[in-house]
Amino acid sequence: MNAKIIKIETKKGKQKIKVASKIIVSGGLVAFPTETVYGLGANVFDSKAVKKIFVAKGRPQDNPLIVHISNISQIKKIAKDFPEKAKALTKKFWPGPLTIVLKKKIIIPDIVTAGLDSVAVRMPSNKIALELIRQAKVPIVAPSANLSGKPSPTTAKHVIDDLSGKVDCIIDNGNCKIGIESTVIDFSSKTPIILRPGYITKDEIEEIIGKVKEAKSRKSKTPKAPGMKYKHYSPKAKVILIDYRQDFEKEIHKIKIQNPNKKIKIINFKNPEEYAKKLFFKFREFDKKGTDIIIAKGLKEDKLGTAVMNRLKKASTVFIK
Ligand code: TXA
Ligand code: MG
Repeated sequence: MNAKIIKIETKKGKQKIKVASKIIVSGGLVAFPTETVYGLGANVFDSKAVKKIFVAKGRPQDNPLIVHISNISQIKKIAKDFPEKAKALTKKFWPGPLTIVLKKKIIIPDIVTAGLDSVAVRMPSNKIALELIRQAKVPIVAPSANLSGKPSPTTAKHVIDDLSGKVDCIIDNGNCKIGIESTVIDFSSKTPIILRPGYITKDEIEEIIGKVKEAKSRKSKTPKAPGMKYKHYSPKAKVILIDYRQDFEKEIHKIKIQNPNKKIKIINFKNPEEYAKKLFFKFREFDKKGTDIIIAKGLKEDKLGTAVMNRLKKASTVFIK
């Protein structure tokens, strides 16, 4: 059966959210909007429901999920401790696109954390997401609502394309404001370490809590965020990434000459925010058009450019520096 689609434009949709929260409580799967990307949610305490997330997405079971909360008091139930630095970051950036990894309490099922003794937690800022968690009265575990390996979904249509028929309900709240996933920072060992760059930048984090480390890229065999080892965000088209210091037009010209019969599309936005918002959208759009090659102009790897380049590098097979 295809998923029930619930369209909600504003937070006035409280009544409609009730339908979705009942599905969560009764062990079903609900795809819902967040400010970053759409998530595929289940009751965190219901192992059977969480298992269904992995099946629907085709997600490897060694890749843990983020627990979404609507109230800071829920941390106590989930995590063993809440270090001062983590607290300071949540004060500044929650609700919002920041995920913190803490030592987990036993109540969190192993399937959620892929057997790790830590748990990832985030309070999203999207009003519908918050209301859904509030009404369900349980934290909601949710990965991005795409098939594993595909670009994260930034509209309900993307979720429908990937998961209709595999989930119970999809809440349609239009386009996600940010468009790339949250920053993941680990507080489960001594020094805080950024496991996944995201919308909240390293500079913004260091302004609050001082120096933090950054996890090594995909070259490392055992990354601390298990999800980072998988090929992600990939469109079907071959992505050629061009360093921002190169002459972009000249490179496009060369590639076009080398590939006379290929359908080629270009990605070049005016600022990192726009890249974040539209990158995954464009990947999916170009795939639908049967594009063979996507030529993407890279960004300087600082501030938000770091997160965007992380996604672009993972999606690309060639990087012209
Ligand atoms: O913006 C987001 O974070 C979105 C929205 C829906 O909240 N969610 C999202 O979830 O991107 P997902 O499952 O696609 O990515 C979660 C990342 C993965 O790289 C995973 O390995 C890492 O977080 N992660 C989750 N729990 C972890 C843990 N206990 N320790 C280390 N990494 C963890
Ligand atoms: Mg994902």
